[in-house]
Amino acid sequence: MVWFITGASKGLGLSLIKELLQAGHKVAATSRSLSALTSEVAASANFLPLAVDLTDVNAIREAVKKTHDTLGGLDVVVNNAGYGIGGAVEELNDKEIYQAFDVNVFATIHVIQAALPYLRAQRSGHIINISSIAGFAPSPGWPMYSATKYAVIGLSESLAVELKPLGINVTAVAPGGFRTEFLTSDSLVLAENKIEDYHDTAAGRDKFVETANKKQIGDPVMAARVFMTLAETPEPPVLLFIGSDAHRRATAKVEQLAASLENYKELTLSTDYK
Ligand SMILES: NC(=O)c1ccc[n+]([C@@H]2O[C@H](COP(=O)([O-])OP(=O)(O)OC[C@H]3O[C@@H](n4cnc5c(N)ncnc54)[C@H](OP(=O)(O)O)[C@@H]3O)[C@@H](O)[C@H]2O)c1
Repeated sequence: MVWFITGASKGLGLSLIKELLQAGHKVAATSRSLSALTSEVAASANFLPLAVDLTDVNAIREAVKKTHDTLGGLDVVVNNAGYGIGGAVEELNDKEIYQAFDVNVFATIHVIQAALPYLRAQRSGHIINISSIAGFAPSPGWPMYSATKYAVIGLSESLAVELKPLGINVTAVAPGGFRTEFLTSDSLVLAENKIEDYHDTAAGRDKFVETANKKQIGDPVMAARVFMTLAETPEPPVLLFIGSDAHRRATAKVEQLAASLENYKELTLSTDYK
């Protein structure tokens, strides 16, 4: 199979490249830095490293075309690139917010648009979009990150229905904590502006980052194997949580939602024409 993975010089993306190459797949991978990719992965005919600025639609289109032309096809697309952005809604400025949506959401949309003509033509393929448990059961201090990751789940769920008749599968993967560079200062972005009223929320978030960084329960190699299993599953799930922490948080959220639906049922049903 031919895989295309975004943001793959470290973390989940890099683990996935290594597992795929070991299993004999062909892999195209993007990074902002070509040297970061080539220093991590040995050169081979099955590996196509690509320097791509994911905020540049033309660069994305060229990268997908080059993948198809060089590796002889396109089967699985993994929209993996993304980063955490912390800060209260009021603290974050437009530049910080738009940049997070550019990478976490709009790049995902642009990659899908670039890949679909190839997948539609062959009536097969699998698009795997990496969301987060924060896109289903958010925790305090990360509202904009949650907004981007909710967008990825909403997009994926609707897209899955749209593409099913064309033979293309879509899965949103919502990881819990995985031991990558995600919580390091190289990847994580925090609002520059601080508002004192949000001090306690910020302190809780910062404490979480400090204690969880590099101690996350999730193993990126096991995540890579899950992605590979997904690609081989004939009827894959549209939304898959990975990690025991994600499972716990998702279960609590589903129970909370079910209770709220029941508690407010009368109010919910009150709006229909009588
Ligand atoms: N690790 C977790 O706990 C966790 C939990 C839930 C969801 N996720 C999601 O999983 C995906 C992979 O993250 P990871 O855990 O592997 O983190 P990571 O080790 O920080 O790697 C993230 C990758 O995304 C790309 N990226 C990061 N910031 C970027 C930016 N500003 N512009 C463009 N690309 C950027 C990087 O690509 P290059 O540097 O190669 O360009 C990098 O390889 C992300 O979508 C993340 O939101 C992670």
